[in-house]
Amino acid sequence: MSKEASRAFSPHIFLVTGLFFLNLSVSGQEISKESPVLPENIKSIVSVSCMPCHSDKGGLIARGKLNFTEWTTYSLKKQKEKAEKMYSEVKKGAMPPKSVRETRPEIVPDGEQTNSIKKWADSLSPDDK
Ligand code: HEC
Repeated sequence: MSKEASRAFSPHIFLVTGLFFLNLSVSGQEISKESPVLPENIKSIVSVSCMPCHSDKGGLIARGKLNFTEWTTYSLKKQKEKAEKMYSEVKKGAMPPKSVRETRPEIVPDGEQTNSIKKWADSLSPDDK
């Protein structure tokens, strides 16, 4: 096995931040310990409204802060923090950004979808590491 291949199975936890900036993403299958995937109802919201920017296909700044392609590599604690932030950004109308709200109002989460994000964020445990 090559050095690269064996490295892919070692814990990435300390490398994760650096990897975001280097854009050397590690595919989900190579991670041995995964955090939960997004629930279906949340996935359907973010894939339409957020993933154009917050995914490996999105802009460097957006995906550096929040990348749904990498969601299962986030620790439970980080998932909780990001989920809370998602709700507060959407609730106050800061995400999706103003430009998108004007050009593509149909992708802005509605009240019901915003509530689903809140319920989901609340359901994640803050004490998990
Ligand atoms: C048009 C691109 C775009 C879309 C669509 C978009 N975002 Fe963002 N988002 C950004 C950018 C760029 C940043 C970083 C700059 C900033 O904070 O304003 C950001 C930052 C964020 C942050 C802050 C992350 C952190 O940890 O600091 C959150 C949370 C967030 N977005 C949530 C969302 C959610 C939830 C959606 C979908 C409902 C969404 N965004 C849709 C571009 C986008």
